[in-house]
This record gives sequence, structure tokens and C-alpha cells, in this order.
Amino acid sequence: MSDLNIRPTAHALGAEILDVDLNDLPDSTFERIRSAFVEHGVIFFRDQKLTPEQHIAFAERWGTININRFFGKLEGHPRIAEVRKEPGQTINIGGSWHTDHSYDEIPAMGSILLAREVPPTGGDTLFASMYAAYDALSDGLKETLEGLNGVHSSRHVFGSAMPESGEFDGRIGNAAAATQDAIHPMVITHPESGRKSLYVNPGFTIGIQNWNSEESDPLLKFLYRHAVRPEFTYRFQWQAGSVAFWDNRATWHYALNDYQGEMRLMHRITLDGSALSRA
Ligand code: SIN
Repeated sequence: MSDLNIRPTAHALGAEILDVDLNDLPDSTFERIRSAFVEHGVIFFRDQKLTPEQHIAFAERWGTININRFFGKLEGHPRIAEVRKEPGQTINIGGSWHTDHSYDEIPAMGSILLAREVPPTGGDTLFASMYAAYDALSDGLKETLEGLNGVHSSRHVFGSAMPESGEFDGRIGNAAAATQDAIHPMVITHPESGRKSLYVNPGFTIGIQNWNSEESDPLLKFLYRHAVRPEFTYRFQWQAGSVAFWDNRATWHYALNDYQGEMRLMHRITLDGSALSRA
């Protein structure tokens, strides 16, 4: 068994894994990192010197890369999405609570985000644990949620609501691909940890199946407020070379947009997941 320095970042979620080089991971170390990912929901690394090819090679150890159909791509590397905000742009990507790709029938398992260029201050990312959010609900509400499905969509985010030109040029596009909705249980059993996780999110969940919006909006609003109670969250400060790898089945994230006039550039690789189920 290899030595690994794993430090939990908050009670609810996250762990920083110190003194590792993601380019040089024996299988035994990789397996311990995999366990830390499942246990903590999001893992962080510092000072990684990864070329795009090495970023891809690390991602491929976890599974199949999923190409996001809306994000701009790194030139020459279509499997790497750019999360870019130039000094002259005002809106960032991912600037509200969400979990990636919940609008897909088989949502992505997770994303590996590598900081290339960060502002001198700001640009942190918040994470929230959907295990903690679920665990803290009353038994009565847990029972109610067990029988419900959420309706998720990309249409209102990446579809016709997107301006045709302007702020998002070259960053977000392909609105024509924002067509389908997906239905998922509102509480899933995580396929690897076996834990129950709340699976709705403010970014992409648009309702509750077979409920009208007057009925579903108040419940969803309650869940969205509840899920980001401070004790369920962690705030990560980036440096160039930092890596965050989050589990979409167990967490939400939120990219803060508090660095107007500065550049922030991240490279994101997203990984295929598996169908989500209640049990
Ligand atoms: C994202 O939502 O994928 C972007 C997160 C970030 O830029 O911190």
C-alpha cells in the first residue's frame, strides 16, 4: 500500500491529496485516490504540471471521456472543454449551483477541472454535498422524495435562451443540441458508495414529474435552500496548476464570478457516468 497524504477539507465533503504527481501514479496509489474520490465527493490536487495530453491520460484512467456538446473546446483537443472568462467579459460559466449534465439520460460521472490561469483574487469554486443534504432531511420528507422523479433540461440554459452572439461567442454554443429533457429519481443511490444522495439542482432541474409548477416550485425551492446550508459546503481557492475532481452524483458546484476585469481559464474533462437509480 502506497503512502498518500489525504486531508479532508470540510466535515461534509472534499479532501486535498498532497504530494502526488498525477503524471506518475502507480496503480496502488490510483486505487487509493479512487477510494478518496468516492468517500469525499470532491478531491483536490495542487501544483500539477499537466500538458493537455497528460490531463487526458489521467482522465482516461477513470473511464470514457464525455465531450460536452455546448462548451468551447481547447484548440487541437476536442476532448478538453474550456471554462474561460476574458477580462472584457462579465458573465462566467457555471456561475450558479448545479451538477453537470443532469439533463442527460445518463449523466456524467464527474469532471476534472485544471486551473491554467487564475485571477489574483477571487474565482473560487463552492461545492456542496448532496449526501449531507439528504441525510439532514426529516424521515417524512425522505419518504416523500423516494417516490418522486425530477425533470431536468438543458433547454433553458444552452438552448434558445442563449443570445446568438455576444458574451458567449466561442465559449458556449450549439444551441440546436439543447433539445431533450431527462427524468431521474430525486434521491439516488450512489452506484459506488451505496449512499443516498439528493439528485435535483437549481441549474438544470425544471420540475417534478407529474406535478404542476405551483406544486413543485415550493418543494424544489426548499430543497435548493436546504442543500446549500453552510455546513454542507466547502469553498476551494485555486492556484494555477490546481486540480479539482468532483462527483456529479454526490455534489453540486458554483463558480464564483467576483473577478471582473481579470482572466480565468480552466480546462475541464468530463467523464461518462452510468444510469442513475433509486436503489
Ligand atoms: C463548471 O461549472 O464546470 C465550472 C466550475 C469552475 O469554473 O469553477
